[in-house]
Amino acid sequence: MTDKFADNAERIAFAEKARLLDRTTASKALFERASKHLPLGVASSFQAGDPYPLYVAKGSGAHIWDVDGNEYLDFHGGFGANMVGHAHPKVVEAIDRAARTGTHFAATTDVTVQFAEELCRRFRLDKVRLANSGTEATMDAIRIARAATGRDVVAKIEGSYHGHHDTVMFSVVPNADAMGGRDQPLSTPMSKGIPAGMAQWTTAVPFNDVVAVDRLFSDRGSEIACLIMEPVMMNIGCVPPAPGYLEAVRELCTKHGVVFIFDEVKSGATIAEGGAIERYGVQPDLACFAKAIGGGTPAAAFGGKAEIMDVIEHGAAQQGTFNGNPLVAAAGLAALTEVLTPDAYDYLGALGTRLADGCAKAIAEHGLPAHTVDLGAKGCISYRAEPLTNYRDFLETRTELYGASFPWVVNRGVFMTPGDEEQWTISVQHTDADIDRYIEVFSEFCAALDA
Ligand SMILES: Cc1ncc(COP(=O)(O)O)c(C=O)c1O
Repeated sequence: MTDKFADNAERIAFAEKARLLDRTTASKALFERASKHLPLGVASSFQAGDPYPLYVAKGSGAHIWDVDGNEYLDFHGGFGANMVGHAHPKVVEAIDRAARTGTHFAATTDVTVQFAEELCRRFRLDKVRLANSGTEATMDAIRIARAATGRDVVAKIEGSYHGHHDTVMFSVVPNADAMGGRDQPLSTPMSKGIPAGMAQWTTAVPFNDVVAVDRLFSDRGSEIACLIMEPVMMNIGCVPPAPGYLEAVRELCTKHGVVFIFDEVKSGATIAEGGAIERYGVQPDLACFAKAIGGGTPAAAFGGKAEIMDVIEHGAAQQGTFNGNPLVAAAGLAALTEVLTPDAYDYLGALGTRLADGCAKAIAEHGLPAHTVDLGAKGCISYRAEPLTNYRDFLETRTELYGASFPWVVNRGVFMTPGDEEQWTISVQHTDADIDRYIEVFSEFCAALDA
């Protein structure tokens, strides 16, 4: 589409990308060195950049510094893991204490038990098991659901990401021309290296569409072990569930004996103390957590109903050398019990609304085809005038506007996630002034698009 916004976006992107390259020559040098030993010069493909990513030197509070010495306000939040901000004294103290008494035993410690107790309390779970990443949490939850039901097929939501194990790597970011009809989305793999035969085990339905779930379960309910979903889709910006949607799916899962799994890797401990389970008042059979529960360390967990979790005591494998590691459990426990307390959520809620409202005002003033979503510590700007309800709506967002916004904000000291499928994360160490700086930078961007 060619219009004023698109023309200006192209001009802005060109100028701002050049400026970004000029101010990040140390990142470029580190990229060249890193590329010799790390594919794409990074430890995870999600950290790659075009032509190279920023390499981070350190963080403190709500701020980070790149290896060129540029300072940023961090709204990337380590893809949502850093709700406590950087080097929070309570988390540092917990890690220091744990490190002095042994960092790893592969035997369960008291702090690990306390961490499990807090997870069960917060997310209303009977039992949990610990893991090391969101990928492991969803992989294990699916294994347990399959073991509990004796069924093999996994249902998921079209356009959702649940980590990088084979079963869930289908229908994650399907191209418009390869995703099939809305009523019958195709199971397209997100990566090379996934056996074609895996496609038979995964089927997708659109988000916010109860009729599609009903139809799928009526046709194939007896084959389906579980339906895994993010209760708020957070890999296409932030797409909340329509009123009544989660409740209706809950009922359908119960009716067909399908294990309902919430993937709360992003929403857990961010959008409310008790995540989506608390915010929307719907209890899944199992739920998966990672990111924010670890206070910036690689903690993950999944859990839920005792009768399902108990299959672990009857032959379903769930294990890992570092599961429940005392360093990670201590950091997670401190984060959840000493930092992310009920008042922290009031504080984060106020900051989130201030940010979303401030950006919405700038969008309205300049008539941009965009909207904001406010979910406490999480929120986003999506470049489509109308709110999104599912992945197909996301394909209508104006990627060129996002593409211009990214280098614009980064050049002005706002570190954001690289990709319009992501969202901001606000930490307890952000202040009103930090939020206002983001709004100021974004408002200037809107004015430049409208010039
Ligand atoms: C909803 C969701 N589930 C699972 C994962 C996988 O988590 P990890 O990257 O820790 O393996 C992610 C990662 O972004 C996610 O957003």
